[in-house]
This record gives sequence, C-alpha cells and structure tokens, in this order.
Amino acid sequence: MFPGVKALDNVDFSVAKGEIHALVGENGAGKSTLIKILGGVYYPDDGEILIDGERVEYASPQAAMGAGISIVHQELNLVSYMSVAENLFMGKRPPRNGVGLVDWKELHRKGREMLTVVGLQDLVREPVGQLSVAQRQLLQISRGVSFGAKIIVFDEPTACLSRSEVENLFKVIRSLRDQGTSIVYVSHRLEEIFELADRVSVLRDGKMVGVVKTQEATTQQIINMMLGKEMVSEGHRVSCTGTEVLLKVDGLSSNNGVENMSFELRRGEVLGLAGVVGSGRTEVARLLFGIDRVTKGTIVLDGADLHPNSIRKAIRAGMALVPEDRHHDGLVLNMNIKENITMVSLKDFARGGLIRHAREGEVVRNLIGSLSIRPGEAGRLTKYLSGGNQQKVVLAKWLAGKQPKVFIFDEPTQGIDVGAKAEVHQLIDNLARNGAGILLISSDMHELLNLCDRILVMVRGSIVKCLSREEATAGKILAYAMRKENKAQHA
Ligand SMILES: Nc1ncnc2c1ncn2[C@@H]1O[C@H](COP(=O)(O)OP(=O)(O)OP(=O)(O)O)[C@@H](O)[C@H]1O
Ligand SMILES: [Mg+2]
Repeated sequence: MFPGVKALDNVDFSVAKGEIHALVGENGAGKSTLIKILGGVYYPDDGEILIDGERVEYASPQAAMGAGISIVHQELNLVSYMSVAENLFMGKRPPRNGVGLVDWKELHRKGREMLTVVGLQDLVREPVGQLSVAQRQLLQISRGVSFGAKIIVFDEPTACLSRSEVENLFKVIRSLRDQGTSIVYVSHRLEEIFELADRVSVLRDGKMVGVVKTQEATTQQIINMMLGKEMVSEGHRVSCTGTEVLLKVDGLSSNNGVENMSFELRRGEVLGLAGVVGSGRTEVARLLFGIDRVTKGTIVLDGADLHPNSIRKAIRAGMALVPEDRHHDGLVLNMNIKENITMVSLKDFARGGLIRHAREGEVVRNLIGSLSIRPGEAGRLTKYLSGGNQQKVVLAKWLAGKQPKVFIFDEPTQGIDVGAKAEVHQLIDNLARNGAGILLISSDMHELLNLCDRILVMVRGSIVKCLSREEATAGKILAYAMRKENKAQHA
C-alpha cells in the first residue's frame, strides 16, 4: 500500500456486536492505517473484512458507510459553510416536496429527529463552521447512525475536548453500544480506555500483539504489550530552579481574552499552566510569541524589555513556542523531516554564508534518535509520518538551533505514545537543567504534577491560583480550574 513500508502485517482484528473495543499502540504502529482500511480510505493489499459473517468489499468511504462502517476521523470531513442539517443529508437523498425541490421543513424536522440521539437537535440550522470540535464529532456520529452504521470507529476523538465534553461523548458512545452498535476506539490515553472499553487490542510495528479484556488487564500490562518491553514508571522530576528571574510578565492584557496576567519564570524552572479548554492558556502563549497583540502590560525577558509584535522578534529575543496544533502551525507537510527540523534554525548552521551540512546532518540525526522519530530517515516527507511522529518533528524543530531562553510547550505530548512521552519529559528536564525557563501548558495531570515546579491555574484569561509542587494535587488543580466566580487577579 505504501511503497517500502509494511504498515500492517497480517493483522486479525474483530469487534463483537454491542462492544466497545479499544485499539492502542505506539506512534506509527498502524492504528490509523487499520482504521482507514476499515473506512474505505485505503484498499488492503491482502486480507478480507467480514461484517455479520459476510464478506464485504468496498473502495470508498461512501461505500464503507453503505456496508455499515462509519468513521469519526480526527480531521472531520464536514462542510463548514453548510448547515448541520445539510451536512447530515450529504451523500443521501434529501426529502423532496411535490414539485421535486428540497423540502426544507421536512429536512429540518428529520434532522432534529436524527440529532436527538447526540443532543444537538437545537443546532439543526446552524452552519457547521459555528460548531465546536466536540459538536462536530457528535454531528459526525449522528450522520453515521442515520446511515445505519453497525460499527462506528473513533480515531483519538478526545484530543481537543474538555472534560465535560469527553463525558458527554462517552455517554453517547455507551448508549450506542447498549443499542447494539459496535465501537472501535483509538486513543493514547489509557485512563480513558479503562473507563470505556470492554476489550483492548494492541498493535506493535504493524502486527497484532494481543487482545485483552479491560477488566482483567492492568495499565502496566498494556504498556508492556505496546512497547514490547518493560517501562519503568516516571517519578517526580528533581527541581533545578535557579534564583535568577528569566521572564517577568506584568499586567499582561490583550484582545484575545487574556486579562491582567502577572507571573515570573526563573532560570531552570518548569512552570505549568493549567486550566480547562478555553481558559486562555494558548492565548498567553500566542501573546508571548508575538502572534497576537499585547494591549497592556510588560514582558521582560532576560533583563530586556520585549514587545513581541512579531514572531521574528520573539524568536530573536530567545523565545520558542511548540504549538498545540501541529498540522496548522508547526509542520510543512510537503517538506521532509530534515527540512522541517532545520527550518527556523538554518542560520545557526551557517558560517560565512555557507550552510555547514555535516553539522546540520548530525544535529538532525541526534534529534531523530533522541525523540525516536520513526521512520528515522531525514529525507522522508512528513506527510507520510503517523500523527505522533509528526508531533515529534515539530518538537525537534525548536530544539535544533541555538538555545532559546524560554520554551513554551503547548500540549507537547498530545497524541504521543507513552514511551515517547517519557522521552519528551526527559528532554524538557534537560532543557531546564541547561538553564532554560519552561512554560508548560498541559491538560495531562500526571505531566503537570511530575514535571512542574509551580503550577498556575487559569480561568477565563486570568490566573486564579499558583500552586507549589508540594501543594499541587490533581484534585486541587481541577477544583480551581472549574471555579467560575471569584476571579483573583494575581498569582
Ligand atoms: N501515506 C503514507 N505513505 C507512506 N507511509 C505511511 C503513510 N501513512 C502512514 N504511513 C506509515 O505507516 C505506518 C503506520 O502509520 P499509522 O498512521 O497507521 O500509525 P498510528 O498507529 O496511527 O500512529 P499515531 O499514534 O502516531 O497516530 C507508519 O510507519 C507510517 O509512517
Ligand atoms: Mg494515528
């Protein structure tokens, strides 16, 4: 299927009726490939698919839907300028009136009915562009249900959802299962799998390693199956915070929702930014990095005033941002691994106007190794990498050049498997040890608690609490993050 790559090798996989079946594996193990075959995006070179014991064959997503398989991809295939109802009927015959025109009243009535399953009935006339990611997923699900899906497949559905949206999604998934639909669920979040799935199948290097019942398995056991070896669990990072203030932010405000933020980041410190989706964490990153405009307040970086009104200026001052959205902000899909990695730091490899290719090659090789980017060929186009490996290339890009002073990581391990996650954590620790200051935006509680020296909790654009590592617990962070009133001004 992919020349020279055996993405899947003789994989057997089965889902029972009315079962939630999780599919896990390292980055590049073949999960998305398997799903795309089930969904009619790719055609398998060998093997067969049976539904209700009958052999089915199809060569397009439409045909897969017809056979009863519906996929909720991460990149959602909806048309954003059309309404919810129109998207629902896309690829289907809409109801017609007496003269053969689309009967809009009937279309909206039917639409409402179909959307009730997922609780979106009131949005039937809304353009899809107005919907949140969570709502688009729900729409995608009800589209599947309306096509009579017997199997609904999810590829990392919760990556961009808040906790309450996750809970709502799980409720919908469980009710579908209880009505006899089969669910295939791909995720790197093992907690979710234990919460939701009846069984788990583990893929490694394109081969099926095994299937276990969730109730009879432990997290460690599944991790070991994924990695093919034991993984020692990570402990608390040893702090290396210096005394020198590296970044001082005072009264920062903006039009993008940040309000009067003040905090200090010391050399060698890992400072966490916690908060629910929409609390303004990414917006802070965008301000510091010169993407959005600061309307009030000051930023002092390493003793010098910084007015980051452009990204170039922020980079020159020593700021690095590893963005959350790797497809839009971080990666040029039509360039290869090496070109992506050295894109921002190319001048650091130059001497007298010439690029020192040997040095450049060595840095790239080292980063490919230390982040275990796979396949590790510098010349491979990044569009052919699995999602998690693309994320690693974005990380590598910021680590290639002259050392930035402050790193902002926005959800650095989202979509990254457990093994590589530990490597990213190691890397963040190394950066801090070498004297950088780290601002870590993360929704992963373990990550925040294990890595951070202090954690700022944000609600609606302001800091409501600063927790030291001694005080911080997952419960406290959540309690502050969910607090609606009582907005404090300072940390
Ligand atoms: N279009 C493509 N062309 C060539 N190789 C590809 C292509 N898509 C995927 N691959 C390769 O196939 C293998 C499996 O990739 P896949 O995307 O299925 O992994 P995954 O398990 O979904 O990983 P992740 O957790 O990172 O999303 C990887 O080695 C990947 O590099
Ligand atoms: Mg994938």
